[in-house]
Amino acid sequence: MISFSVAFDPNKGIGIKGALPWHLKDELKIFKANTLYKNILMGQTTYDGLPRKLVDRYITVVSIDPEYKPEDAEVTHDLIAFLKEHENDETEYIVCGGASIYRQAYPYAKKAYISFVKEAYEVDTHFDAYDEDDWIVTKEVDYPDFVYRELKRKGTEMTRKDGNIYVPFEERTGNESIVYFTRDISPEGIRKAYEKVNEHITGKVAIKLHTGEKNGPNFIPAKWVKQLMETSESLKDATIIETNTYYEGDRYTTEQHRETLEVNGWNFCKVDITDEEGTVDLPVKGGNWFDHMTVGSHLPNYDSMLTLTHFKGHAMGGFGGSNKNIGIGCADGRIGKGMIHARKGEGQWSVTEEELMEKITESTKATIDHFGKNVTYVNVMRNMSVSCDCEGVAAAPVVTPNVGVLASTDICAIDTACVDLVNAMTEEQHHDLWERMQSRHGFRQLTYMKEMGMGNSRYILIDLDNDEARLTPKEAVKDVKPFKRVEF
Ligand SMILES: NC(=O)c1ccc[n+]([C@@H]2O[C@H](COP(=O)([O-])OP(=O)(O)OC[C@H]3O[C@@H](n4cnc5c(N)ncnc54)[C@H](OP(=O)(O)O)[C@@H]3O)[C@@H](O)[C@H]2O)c1
Repeated sequence: MISFSVAFDPNKGIGIKGALPWHLKDELKIFKANTLYKNILMGQTTYDGLPRKLVDRYITVVSIDPEYKPEDAEVTHDLIAFLKEHENDETEYIVCGGASIYRQAYPYAKKAYISFVKEAYEVDTHFDAYDEDDWIVTKEVDYPDFVYRELKRKGTEMTRKDGNIYVPFEERTGNESIVYFTRDISPEGIRKAYEKVNEHITGKVAIKLHTGEKNGPNFIPAKWVKQLMETSESLKDATIIETNTYYEGDRYTTEQHRETLEVNGWNFCKVDITDEEGTVDLPVKGGNWFDHMTVGSHLPNYDSMLTLTHFKGHAMGGFGGSNKNIGIGCADGRIGKGMIHARKGEGQWSVTEEELMEKITESTKATIDHFGKNVTYVNVMRNMSVSCDCEGVAAAPVVTPNVGVLASTDICAIDTACVDLVNAMTEEQHHDLWERMQSRHGFRQLTYMKEMGMGNSRYILIDLDNDEARLTPKEAVKDVKPFKRVEF
């Protein structure tokens, strides 16, 4: 991928007499942070005019001079060939000027790091090619002398692979699914939302939920699920399903797991540890990583499945929504979860970021393809620690406000809507959870679900508290309150 890093003034001025027109300490720090240990590209004039060496960067200098041999950099004599060769690489090549290099590289760049200097300076070089209509701002920080923005090129949307980049609604394409929303975070609220999406929950019903590590403070309370099952006709005889864990905690073996279920109050109905007697392979249709996923052998015993998800952060997935609840939660504890988390011959948790999101998603696809139309989703945005329920009492304290309950028959739409609702909160409200999602490249879960044809990234949000009116994510989170723990 080609990107560029630049600072320009209100007239798009970038340089004077071979040097920068300004000295902005914070700007230099940002440049350093963005380029350290990365591949960077710059013209000969810019390179020769550097006030000091740029260490710990892989520099390529563009020059027409066949004799030119800088001591700490590679040279290319053909800029366009270089850009064409690398524009589709996973690896980023950051174009760092000057004017002639920016001009030629601009059409190839998919990402930009720009400091918009506030004051106009005396300049003799400009970055004329830049057009703000080509870009979408993904990050903005105001400094006294400039505004720093990260941008991505318009049209590089839901299919892109960067899981740290959030794709705003306006940029998404395709159909819209319905996502129901209520602010009523209670067994009754969950029932109300569920009943909107339960048409195909028939026959022998499984409820896939996270039953939590011992005494975990954040998972959906067992009492609530009991009440939900008692008040929803289709769930009266349902079975909660789980799998053993991949890590050696209190749910590693079936015996340990049963004890933990008891401690956490899951003793009012049958809980089926689907992998206690073995595994079965389900095909991953169209998978890029897997052709099958290994799940608990009991999973195919069910006709339909309610995915009842506690939406929250996750140390590796960034966030845990319906996709993670199924992708990890239905994969069996020894083989399936290992396929997702570990590369052959490498560590137990060697798969991270985009690769992890894609593998979780392919695992989910195996299960939801198996159930076809007989699977539905309810996400409860409550007690949203940045940690998952598998961290039990060690989970980070919750600081994000509770939001509500969402329901949909479209897994991509419901998880995307939850992320949009988190995004729609104020910086102070969403800071920690957003940072967790972005830093783990969790947004790739959403774009990959769309790519794999698992659902829509666009949706209509329906307000169950107000006569089923349409509402926006901003409106949905308008009245959220600072988090306060309520015990049950
Ligand atoms: N504000 C910022 O963020 C920022 C960042 C970087 C630089 N700058 C400023 O920009 C100014 C320098 O810009 P500039 O345009 O004069 O110089 P430049 O872009 O840094 O370098 C031009 C050099 O690249 C060579 N070149 C250009 N296109 C090429 C191609 N297609 N194939 C091979 N070689 C090629 C040129 O060869 P020819 O001799 O054939 O032209 C020339 O030697 C300085 O003032 C610098 O401080 C500002």
